[in-house]
Amino acid sequence: MFPKINPLETKSWQNLEAHFTQNDFELRTLFQYNPERFSQFSIEKENYLFDYSKNLIDEKTLELLLNLAEECKLEDAIKAMFSGEIINETEHRAVLHTALRDFSPEPILVDGENIKPEIKKVLDQMKSFSEKIISGAHKGFSGKEITDVVNIGIGGSDLGPVMVCSALKHFKTRLNVHFVSNVDGNDIAEVLKNLNPETTLFIIASKTFTTQETMTNANSAKDWFLKNGKLEDVEKHFVALSTNIEAVKNFGIAEENIFQFWDWVGGRYSLWSAIGLSIVLFIGYDNFEQLLKGAEDTDTHFKTAKFSENIPVIMGLLGIWYRNFYDAETYAILPYSQYLNRFPAYFQQGDMESNGKSIDRNGEFVEYETGPVIWGEPGTNGQHAFYQLIHQGTELIPADFIAYVKSANVVSDHQVKLLANFFAQTEALAFGKTENEVIEELKKEGKTDEEISKLAPYKIFTGDSPTNSIFFHELNPFSLGQLIALYEHKIFVQGVIWNIFSFDQFGVELGKVLAKNILPKLIDDEHVNSHDSSTNALINYYKKNK
Ligand code: F6P
Repeated sequence: MFPKINPLETKSWQNLEAHFTQNDFELRTLFQYNPERFSQFSIEKENYLFDYSKNLIDEKTLELLLNLAEECKLEDAIKAMFSGEIINETEHRAVLHTALRDFSPEPILVDGENIKPEIKKVLDQMKSFSEKIISGAHKGFSGKEITDVVNIGIGGSDLGPVMVCSALKHFKTRLNVHFVSNVDGNDIAEVLKNLNPETTLFIIASKTFTTQETMTNANSAKDWFLKNGKLEDVEKHFVALSTNIEAVKNFGIAEENIFQFWDWVGGRYSLWSAIGLSIVLFIGYDNFEQLLKGAEDTDTHFKTAKFSENIPVIMGLLGIWYRNFYDAETYAILPYSQYLNRFPAYFQQGDMESNGKSIDRNGEFVEYETGPVIWGEPGTNGQHAFYQLIHQGTELIPADFIAYVKSANVVSDHQVKLLANFFAQTEALAFGKTENEVIEELKKEGKTDEEISKLAPYKIFTGDSPTNSIFFHELNPFSLGQLIALYEHKIFVQGVIWNIFSFDQFGVELGKVLAKNILPKLIDDEHVNSHDSSTNALINYYKKNK
């Protein structure tokens, strides 16, 4: 049974409030008086380490947070999700992206039917199709091999493949993969500029096959293609990934070129499904399977580890500690890997579209904060951009630091320098620099007393900025799968405790509807006065100057 518990009404929430008021955690002190702190607050897995010791917690905090998870019936919620219960109640759907990476022989039932054979069928279809494209056996309309693949999709039908293809560039096949998402025509124009229709394959990725941006781009791609190819050539150059078979066929894509998925796969959790076809083409099927297996490894951990040793559970609970007790409005994801440059953006959708909600599972307005703003950029670049605010601004910004022991490319001493920064930043954020340390430093620099008293306040770092460090041996398809699933389950844990529905996204609808209503008014020359004065003026300004 999926629980519907108001967290404010739990004993643990009240205990946490009291605990928060009674304590003023300082990381310097916590580390100084507890030599066991690192081993107490870290978890080592076969190929990675999760260090959460630099958080503003003690044993009691963790105990209370774990009690909160129990009181909110997280265990029941996990079972409900994995077993295919209709936990996405507002859309009346199961939530089973985990089934897509479940290689066990156990059946998973949706409406009384085992979905495993269907999943296997689509995976086999992806495998054989990708092999034909990569090997060059599949030829375009003029007999040439495919060299370039363009994935047309947006949101969950774009961000996951973009992120994974960027992260796993090192595993690339001979194919170039491009992504078009924005309805801004400049996006598709720039991609098509350098492509040859004879050697290009388009993947139209859309769960609903109705999304305005994707359908507009898909039609423009078809028009571009038909300037050279014929209508009967479309089947060699266009495939679709969708749950809406009828709409795909109406677009002109043959049934055998449709890679299906199902309504129990949420858009932002769909890279494991047919939506991953661009990934398969980019890194090959075997690597894609490793990605799935990595995610399965985290699923098993999430399902079986007790909460005190369960990484996504701890990640979720720490997030709640900062969001609800410290009032932290944002959360930074800071990968020390250029390959992960799209990872924060990917989880911006993953987290914010899932937990950016204010009505609880009982239909009531929540009386506590829910999802934070997620943001981030790779280190070390971020250090030279926004870290100033994390170190010395007025906000508490909890952050995850992600890094890899080994680099895929060994280039002189780059990796040690990168890692030196990774270690140094969490150290600086945690422990800061005291007034005494600043004064000593300025004295050594030969500054006068007057100069010192003037400068010192600006040079103090208060520290106590909490961080997790997630430190993998290396970035490969398996470890990336593990990492993505850690975050997916963290989001799930938080949604359960906040008592919200994490798997719908009605908040994106209103803007879409209004845009549809405005569109026809942009086409004629008539003065518009049916909106508020600001919107009228903006539309009329456009019409006057277009
Ligand atoms: O932005 C809303 C949304 O529905 C996302 O959840 C989804 O990932 C995206 O649009 C794309 O939808 P589709 O795959 O149906 O084109």
